[in-house]
Amino acid sequence: MADTGFDSRAEGSERADSSEAMRALGARWAKSLQGGMVLALHGPLGAGKTQLAKGIALGLGYAGEVTSPTFSLVHEYRGGRLPIYHLDLYRIADAGEALRFGVEEYLTDPEAVAIVEWPERIAGLLPSSARHWEIELVSENDRRIFIRP
Ligand SMILES: Nc1ncnc2c1ncn2[C@@H]1O[C@H](COP(=O)(O)OP(=O)(O)O)[C@@H](O)[C@H]1O
Ligand SMILES: [Mg+2]
Repeated sequence: MADTGFDSRAEGSERADSSEAMRALGARWAKSLQGGMVLALHGPLGAGKTQLAKGIALGLGYAGEVTSPTFSLVHEYRGGRLPIYHLDLYRIADAGEALRFGVEEYLTDPEAVAIVEWPERIAGLLPSSARHWEIELVSENDRRIFIRP
């Protein structure tokens, strides 16, 4: 990043200039994760939410396939340091539909980590302790990730 001038939004932000860099960031963050945590990944289609989720899973010791559960809504990854629920709520219309699908079970498991793509769909259901990460598309291969307080 050029260090000319001060960008206040850059505080608490990270940069990833490739999908590998994005996965490495996820793997780094995974070290600090504990059971019961909910990770809300914000950003448009193609932002890299699933790449970040893959990195988090790798960092937790899960090396299997990680894909967006767009149709099944949730994928479970077991065998790493913590079980992971990977949710993709793109196709969910509202929180009511998510509740009928049983989303609360995944958000409240004290033993597991829940990674949520399209968390805006269930904003009111996310615990206040949820970590919010927002991915911004800078260019084809460049992303900025803002860590919301
Ligand atoms: N810096 C980057 N970080 C993440 N993905 C990147 C980056 N640069 C290019 N890409 C590509 O962008 C796409 C991101 O897709 P994906 O992770 O499925 O996005 P989302 O889940 O947000 O829709 C992938 O094809 C990936 O290879
Ligand atoms: Mg995705």
